[in-house]
Amino acid sequence: MNMNMTKQQIINQLIPHLQPAKLQAKGEADVNIALSKYWGKRQTELNLPTNSSLSIGLPGLGTKTQLTLIEAEHNQAWLNNQLLAPDNPFSQRLDNYLAPFQPSGLKFKLQTQNTVPTAAGLASSASGYAALALALNDLFDWQLDPASLSILARMGSGSASRSIYQGFALWHKGEREDGMDSVAQGLSHTWPGFSIGLVKIDVNQKPIGSTAGMQQTVKHCELYQAWPAQAERQVKLIQQAIEQRDFTRLGETAEHNALSMHATMMATWPPILYWQAESVSAMQKIWQLRQQGIEVYFTMDAGPNLKLLFLAENKKAIETAFENITIIQPFG
Ligand code: PMV
Repeated sequence: MNMNMTKQQIINQLIPHLQPAKLQAKGEADVNIALSKYWGKRQTELNLPTNSSLSIGLPGLGTKTQLTLIEAEHNQAWLNNQLLAPDNPFSQRLDNYLAPFQPSGLKFKLQTQNTVPTAAGLASSASGYAALALALNDLFDWQLDPASLSILARMGSGSASRSIYQGFALWHKGEREDGMDSVAQGLSHTWPGFSIGLVKIDVNQKPIGSTAGMQQTVKHCELYQAWPAQAERQVKLIQQAIEQRDFTRLGETAEHNALSMHATMMATWPPILYWQAESVSAMQKIWQLRQQGIEVYFTMDAGPNLKLLFLAENKKAIETAFENITIIQPFG
C-alpha cells in the first residue's frame, strides 16, 4: 500500500460514483460519549487513531442535516438557521470535507441543526459528520453499508465513526495505512437503566480544539507513550463489563480512562487543561456520593463538562445532587 494514500484515493475506493441522484437529501445522527477515549492520531489526513475506543450514543441529542445542490459561487453552511461566513473555521472544515464530492457546476448548501451546544465538549462534531456522511449517501444514493459510512464519517471527525450506530459502538483502531480497517462496529448489547447525566459547567467555545490538543499531546508529552496500551486494555475491560452488565467495572474503568487521558494533556508542554474549578468541584461531589454508597462515575472529553454514569436506581439521588442535570437513558 502506498505510504501517502490521500483522502481522494480512499474515497474512490469507498464510493461507487459521483453522480447525484437528487437535489436534496437528509441525514441524522446522535452524539456519542466515549467510555474509553480516542486520544491521538497516527495519521491526520484520514483521522487514523493510535488506539481503539468504545462509546455510548445519546438518543435525541445530535444533528439533523439537510444537503441541497445549488447554483452559487461558494458552498453555504447554515448552522442552527444562521448562515456562516465562508472564512469561518466551521465552514472551511466543511468545504475541505465536501471537496472530493463536489459535482461540477454545483455547490452544496448545508443546513445543520444541532440539539447539543456546538464546541462545548459535547461532541457535536461526532453527530455532525456522521449526519453529513448519511446525507451524502442519500444524495448520491450510494447505499453504503454501515462500515463504509463509518469510514466516511471518520474522515470528517474521528469520533463520528461511532455515531453511525446507536447504543454501544466500538471503533477498532485498525492497522492498515489506508484505514480501511479503522472502522466502528455497533455492539448489540442493551442495558436498560443505564444512565448518562450531562453536567454543564461551561458551554462556550473551548480554548483548544481536540485535533490540535491531540497533536500537541502526541508530540510533547512523555507520559503519552503509556496511553495507547492502557486505552486498548480498557476498551476490552469495558466491552466485557457491558457483556456481563458489570456496572462497577464499567464505571471504574471509564473514569480511570478519562482521568488518564486528561493527565496526558496536563503533562504536555505547553500544558492543556480543559477543566475549570467547577469541574473539579463536580468530581469531588461524585467521589463523596460514592463514599455514601451511591454508585456514580464520570467521564470527560475535550472540555470542562462532566458526563455522569449511573444506574436508574440512583436517578433521584443524582438529580438531587446536581441541579440542572440532563439525564439520558439510552435503552429506556
Ligand atoms: O472526533 P474528535 O476529533 O472531535 O475527537 C474526540 C476526542 C474525545 O472526545 C476527547 C474522545 C472521544 O473518543 O470521543
